[in-house]
Amino acid sequence: MKNIVILISGGGSNMAALVRAASRENWAKRYGARIAAVISNKADAKGLEFARSQGIATELLDHRAYASREAFDAALADLIGGYDSPGQPALVVLAGFMRILTPAFVERFAGRLTNIHPSLLPSFTGLHTHQRAIAAGCKFAGATVHLVTAELDHGPILDQAVVPVLQGDTEDSLAARVLTQEHLMYPRAIARLLQGG
Ligand code: GAR
Repeated sequence: MKNIVILISGGGSNMAALVRAASRENWAKRYGARIAAVISNKADAKGLEFARSQGIATELLDHRAYASREAFDAALADLIGGYDSPGQPALVVLAGFMRILTPAFVERFAGRLTNIHPSLLPSFTGLHTHQRAIAAGCKFAGATVHLVTAELDHGPILDQAVVPVLQGDTEDSLAARVLTQEHLMYPRAIARLLQGG
């Protein structure tokens, strides 16, 4: 069985969408894959409760307990490595994981590390994407699923979802519209990866 490890820092709504899709679409039978663990760097991440309620293993790795970014990433990599099965390295899915990862970490999981970012990359890497899209007068915004490379919010694009920016949109209203699409797109993109696409 191929293990999927999801990393979160907060609400975890994308993680919940992935968990629901895995169950609804029977990823275990179809792709021989299961969501094995949800890891958070924050104790109060709401998503942890949901994962537990679904019988998924949860792990907390508080970045504040580590002296450096490198030390935290090394501990995180070891934790994730525990979910590799023989000949079946775990797929690592960043879902609202709000930490910049070191090149060493990215290198270790290259080709099996995905992220969802709330903009139409390569526009608006980094934070406050919706606010910046509105301020720039964009008529469209969206989200991107991509493979993670050492450069922040870069890497091969796996899928994108586009939504209109409406008159009077606020950061929150646009974020909500984009998030609805993220919940559809991320499970679809991961299912395609599991199929070998
Ligand atoms: C999502 O909009 C995701 O695209 C974004 O954080 C939100 C997490 O929501 N990710 C980033 O900004 C990564 N740089 P969720 O915790 O409810 O899935």
